[in-house]
Amino acid sequence: HAAEAQRTDLMTITRHVLNEQSRHPESRGDFTILLSHIVLGCKFVASAVNKAGLAKLIGLAGETNLQGEEQKKLDVLSNEVFVKALVSSGRTCVLVSEENEEAIFVDASLRGKYCVCFDPLDGSSNIDCGVSIGTIFGIYMIKDKDNVTLDDVLQPGTNMLAAGYCMYGSSCTLVLSTGNGVNGFTLDPSLGEFILTHPNIKIPKKGKIYSVNEGNAKNWDAPTAKFVEKCKFPLDGLSPKSLRYIGSMVADVHRTLLYGGVFLYPADKKSPNGKLRVLYEVFPMSFLMEQAGGQAFTGKQRALELVPSKIHDRSPIFLGSSDDVEEIKSLYASQS
Ligand code: AHG
Ligand code: MN
Ligand code: MN
Ligand code: MN
Repeated sequence: HAAEAQRTDLMTITRHVLNEQSRHPESRGDFTILLSHIVLGCKFVASAVNKAGLAKLIGLAGETNLQGEEQKKLDVLSNEVFVKALVSSGRTCVLVSEENEEAIFVDASLRGKYCVCFDPLDGSSNIDCGVSIGTIFGIYMIKDKDNVTLDDVLQPGTNMLAAGYCMYGSSCTLVLSTGNGVNGFTLDPSLGEFILTHPNIKIPKKGKIYSVNEGNAKNWDAPTAKFVEKCKFPLDGLSPKSLRYIGSMVADVHRTLLYGGVFLYPADKKSPNGKLRVLYEVFPMSFLMEQAGGQAFTGKQRALELVPSKIHDRSPIFLGSSDDVEEIKSLYASQS
């Protein structure tokens, strides 16, 4: 009977956010409207990803983005979908996308009070072989709606109001935090609704997995090399950690969040700031990790305290189980 009641008491993402927002008396539902437009974009990309091979959506779009990456058709399509969904929501004023060189300033007639930084399609190198990919987003409140400038997005991650990602994998999972914990929702294709399936996600304090592209080992700095060495050859006789690396940040972070462990994209000689972009990869994932009881570190400082100077700035990142990140922090501390 209770199971029956539970089954019919559908906790959709919209209902869940409305509950959370009701704690903010000043909220006029703007955030919920913004989120519903982000959810719409995720549903569209999920359906495009599921039929990518059939709908001739794999392969290159024939353009190169400002990051010097060859854009995939799905990169371009999902970017257009999210830009249109966010602008039409009437709740945004500045957008930063990995696929747009400049920030997008929304026309005054459609301007709202939120800034959204997003990676419309994360893990593009995995599209053509059907491995999980995703979308990542972070949401800020602008400072002054009548004077919108780039400074509204060049804020430290500690000012973020909300962050999340959608992973297009064996199922479509949206993980979200609005600042009081992390919740996971799974798309029920028969309803077209994201249903709460992972309430109040907490990352294990310590994990048995490390996740890094070992192909860059030649160029790592000493603390990173030492940490990875300890994962493989533990000094205290404990069993070695397992290596799991998917190559889509969303998938590697999702596994880290649920199973524990640590994800690293370190600096190396070739890229002294690492590869991952601060505003739409490092900050949203660091926000989620901290909200789930984990940590996020750049090699020098707490990741969320970074203040980006340009919208596509990169940073090294070490994030995941608190104890594992502590180990990395002490290796960097003893180096300096
Ligand atoms: P994107 O596809 O949005 O450009 O991001 C790719 C990123 C991230 O998803 C992943 O963690 C990282 O690139 C993998 O980089 P390597 O292939 O260098 O390991
Ligand atoms: Mn890219
Ligand atoms: Mn990405
Ligand atoms: Mn991307």
